[in-house]
Amino acid sequence: MAEKYLVVCYSRSGATKAAAEAIASHLSGCDIDEIKSKKYDAGFMGIITAGIDSITKAKAEVESTLDPSAYDHVIVGTPVWGFTAANPVLTYLANNKGKFKAVSFFSCSLLSGGLFAFDAMQEACGMTPVAKLDLGDTEVRQKSPLFERHVNKFLMQLRACSNVSSSVH
Ligand SMILES: Cc1cc2nc3c(=O)[nH]c(=O)nc-3n(C[C@H](O)[C@H](O)[C@H](O)COP(=O)(O)O)c2cc1C
Repeated sequence: MAEKYLVVCYSRSGATKAAAEAIASHLSGCDIDEIKSKKYDAGFMGIITAGIDSITKAKAEVESTLDPSAYDHVIVGTPVWGFTAANPVLTYLANNKGKFKAVSFFSCSLLSGGLFAFDAMQEACGMTPVAKLDLGDTEVRQKSPLFERHVNKFLMQLRACSNVSSSVH
């Protein structure tokens, strides 16, 4: 039977959501869920609050719609905040710990930092990811050929090793 995939992301300014949609478009029957966290929405104050919360590692109030336990493989996307994953994503992963069968991670950042973000995401959900993808904000927004190549490589890894996530705790 075909793998049932869910792509979940939080996105404050649209880049991670665009990447999520591109990834999902290549996986047949894939659902998308967007994590919402009102606290960080409001313009400049939202950015300041996000920056402070990423430093203090504050938990965010989050809303999501779909149950990750109904899927074989959940692909989770985050913006990088303060060299780690955004608080709403870490909160979502922690809240749903124990519900994932297999996970993969992707991130969007201006410079880099995805690697630290992935460590934090693994810690939050207690699962090692099948595949990881560290994307640049510009390549995603411009939908550059490099972005397409990165997404395709990620999907190859993910399909080759689906369901080999293991618990780290
Ligand atoms: C509070 C905050 C902290 C950020 N920290 C970093 C960072 O440490 N490293 C980095 O490369 N980009 C950082 N960024 C930039 C975002 O990761 C980047 O623009 C990302 O693509 C935004 O994704 P989104 O449009 O889905 O929200 C930060 C952005 C915000 C709002």
